[in-house]
Amino acid sequence: MDESKNLNKESYNKIAEQWAEDRSRISVSKLVVDFSQKIKQNGNILDIGCGTGYPIAKYLCDKGFFVTGIDISENMLKKAGEQEINNPAAEQRGMLFSRGIGLGFNTFITAPEGRGIKPSPRIKNANFYLCDFFEFEPIEKYDGIIAFDSFFHFPKEKQEGIYKKVSDWLNIDGYLLFTHGKEEGETKGSMFGETFYYSALNTEKVHELLLQNGFEIELSIENYKENDTERDLVIVAKKRR
Ligand SMILES: C[S@@+](CC[C@H](N)C(=O)[O-])C[C@H]1O[C@@H](n2cnc3c(N)ncnc32)[C@H](O)[C@@H]1O
Repeated sequence: MDESKNLNKESYNKIAEQWAEDRSRISVSKLVVDFSQKIKQNGNILDIGCGTGYPIAKYLCDKGFFVTGIDISENMLKKAGEQEINNPAAEQRGMLFSRGIGLGFNTFITAPEGRGIKPSPRIKNANFYLCDFFEFEPIEKYDGIIAFDSFFHFPKEKQEGIYKKVSDWLNIDGYLLFTHGKEEGETKGSMFGETFYYSALNTEKVHELLLQNGFEIELSIENYKENDTERDLVIVAKKRR
């Protein structure tokens, strides 16, 4: 396994509890709200680096979308799929999830119905898979793809390859929303006492890659501020071809 991926996976596994608590208290970003309004009714959305599924997947599912979440951290996903006792839907959903864990890292479970929908007790109409972005093989195309604070965790040498993949996975006229770093480089940072790996290309290069891969850029903001948080780069792009 890549060193950077291993570090992030282990660190997210360690902080999943605190992360879940933290995220359960915040409301969904306006970026996600605006993005959801662009996606066709009852459309399907891929959430890359979905974490605990809160508040993003939960919000999108409540709006009637079908969400597939992928993440490399078992403990973050466990939070997303936590079960309630005596709930048959939860048991059904839990079986699918534990099969995924049991088969090990990078395993993509193809849901029997093809569409990948299994009820979750906490997040209805969502499915969560333990899977690295670079190993993911979708069984369908999506109307929307969201990568909220996850692309910047990918290895630097793989950054250029992101945009062809997401373009291939989107339906024409589908939307991509992501946050990212704005300057080329690699770094490590600390969160909840654990170390994380980050990397990015510069904004100009990301624009170039999006255009090369059939996207039209609808919004690109550096130093985006919302409430008390700031993100280096936020992009919304529409797949045109
Ligand atoms: C900062 S968290 C964001 C979680 C969620 N999007 C949110 O906004 O709450 C980043 C997530 O990306 C996941 N991640 C990191 N590298 C990944 C990869 N290569 N493939 C899939 N997920 C990854 C991490 O495990 C973590 O859950």
